[in-house]
Amino acid sequence: MQLRHVIVLTAAALGTVAATAQTFKPEDQIKYRQSVMQVTQRSLGALNGMIRGDTPYNKELAVKHAETIANLIAWSGASFGPGTDKGAPTRADARIWSEPDKFKALYDKHIAEAGKLPAAAAGDANTLKAQFAEVTRNCKTCHDDYRSREYRN
Ligand code: HEC
Repeated sequence: MQLRHVIVLTAAALGTVAATAQTFKPEDQIKYRQSVMQVTQRSLGALNGMIRGDTPYNKELAVKHAETIANLIAWSGASFGPGTDKGAPTRADARIWSEPDKFKALYDKHIAEAGKLPAAAAGDANTLKAQFAEVTRNCKTCHDDYRSREYRN
């Protein structure tokens, strides 16, 4: 199933670029993408607790968190569209817009791996752990290259 879903999700994300670029101001897009990253991190934290055994593995809750993550990530690539490099305090590096193909490739990979998280969460703590590692690897890879240390206006 995966590949087809990934393609559909990517297409949906790209479609949103066009739609939201016209609807939302850069300031809104910046706040939106930062909020998505925050919520993603929060849900990943809940999953991490189950993986580490701090909280019991709860399939229903794990799937909900995983779906939240997958859906938000699928939609949020659009918020890095043209013209959203400034407008509100941001740590997005200027290279996102000077090398958009490289950034998009990373984001697409992020969408693809996050898209596999709900199925992994529906298995057991071990399948969740394996896909969690794939998802979180992308956070660091992208932040190293495309997230600045300081906020700028
Ligand atoms: C393809 C690139 C990319 C990936 C993948 C990515 N991020 Fe980010 N992240 C960014 C960029 C760029 C910013 C800065 C956004 C801004 O300030 O406008 C950011 C900002 C953040 C922030 C700070 C938001 C704020 O309030 O300023 C958090 C938290 C965060 N990311 C968490 C994550 C987590 C967790 C993952 C992995 C599940 C992840 N990110 C994956 C690029 C990425």
